[in-house]
Amino acid sequence: MNILVTGGAGYIGSHTCLEMLNENYKLVVYDNLSNSSLDALKRVEKLTGKEVKFIEGDLLNVEKLEQVFQNERFDAVIHFAGLKAVGESVEKPLEYYDNNVVGTLNLLKIMQKYNVKKIVFSSSATVYGVPEKLPLTEESPRSTTNPYGTSKLVIEYILEDLAKSDPEWKIISLRYFNPVGAHKSGEIGEDPNGIPNNLLPFISQVAVGLRDKLNIFGDDYSTKDGTGIRDYIHVVDLAKGHLAALKCMTDATEKGFIPINLGTGNGYSILEMIKAFEKASGKTIPYEVVKRREGDVAECFADTTYAYKKLGWKAKKSIEEMCADAWKWQSTNPDGYRS
Ligand code: NAD
Ligand code: WQD
Repeated sequence: MNILVTGGAGYIGSHTCLEMLNENYKLVVYDNLSNSSLDALKRVEKLTGKEVKFIEGDLLNVEKLEQVFQNERFDAVIHFAGLKAVGESVEKPLEYYDNNVVGTLNLLKIMQKYNVKKIVFSSSATVYGVPEKLPLTEESPRSTTNPYGTSKLVIEYILEDLAKSDPEWKIISLRYFNPVGAHKSGEIGEDPNGIPNNLLPFISQVAVGLRDKLNIFGDDYSTKDGTGIRDYIHVVDLAKGHLAALKCMTDATEKGFIPINLGTGNGYSILEMIKAFEKASGKTIPYEVVKRREGDVAECFADTTYAYKKLGWKAKKSIEEMCADAWKWQSTNPDGYRS
């Protein structure tokens, strides 16, 4: 199968490309490298001994994107490309809507024109907003608290309408919970620009000595130890979820818009994550409790029943593995792909 992977040079994209190459998929990656490095794909090629066709291009560049469809015949698209920093989206909403929503519309219009009607979309648990009830099922009410989240939710609405308009479309919207960790080789991993927004990359940078301490955003939540609880999922488990989604779409009976949670179903607190990381790295993580971060929820974790039923997929890796693999990547590449 020949697959177009938008945003395939990024964190989740590069891990997914690696798993797909290992299963002999043919890949074309289309990425503008706005938040990634081509080195990630070079390392993926080295690890797998297989080639990825790379095209540096922007989803907002319609002519270039269309050329790709003129030159190749795709069986499906995996659509990772997007901007993802919540805080930045509050400061630059137009940029986020343009890049994420308009970029996706461009892609869908060209897919329709070239009769490629299978897409796996990178959605997020952020579309559940502030959870009313836990665990979150695919039927839980959707709402958002920031422009990034709204861009994901708007794309889901567009995909739902598209699927309703034409029964030939098969659309799987994977709602990721909190992806962390790295490939076990330590060759590819998460390489944030500037100060990390997310917990695990921040802890990793403290452990490797790039930052003095972690700020814990509040310890007065009504959770087991007062700190926020999330459903952290190993990025390799997540990558395998995409393969399961592609396989599911080849089943002739599958059609329409299918949202699926990709999480483990387990919630861990910030203090538990610090402890697990200290154990995996042998380093102490100094921290200070500061005030809550605006927009954060106390607790968020997935009901994973439907993912197993629909895809036969289940996350397998423990938080010990997530921390050990994140540490291997960070300690061997302290400055990410610039190391
Ligand atoms: P990432 O930033 O590492 O990867 C996104 C890739 O898309 C980058 O390589 C970037 O250069 C590329 N890109 C962005 N805009 C583009 C455009 N207009 N044209 C072409 N390429 C473009 O992020 P990631 O963590 O790998 O996330 C992948 C997807 O999953 C994103 O859509 C993100 O919103 C979603 N997601 C991520 C998380 C997370 O915590 N990492 C959680 C839920 C959902
Ligand atoms: C986890 C926990 C923080 C950093 C975000 C996006 C979401 C999705 C995944 C894309 C929270 C706490 C964090 C720090 C801390 N992305 N924390 N100190 O907020 O669950 O989700 O990433 O779709 O849309 O919102 O993840 O890793 O930022 O935070 O105390 O320096 O760690 O308060 O409780 P979050 P996170």
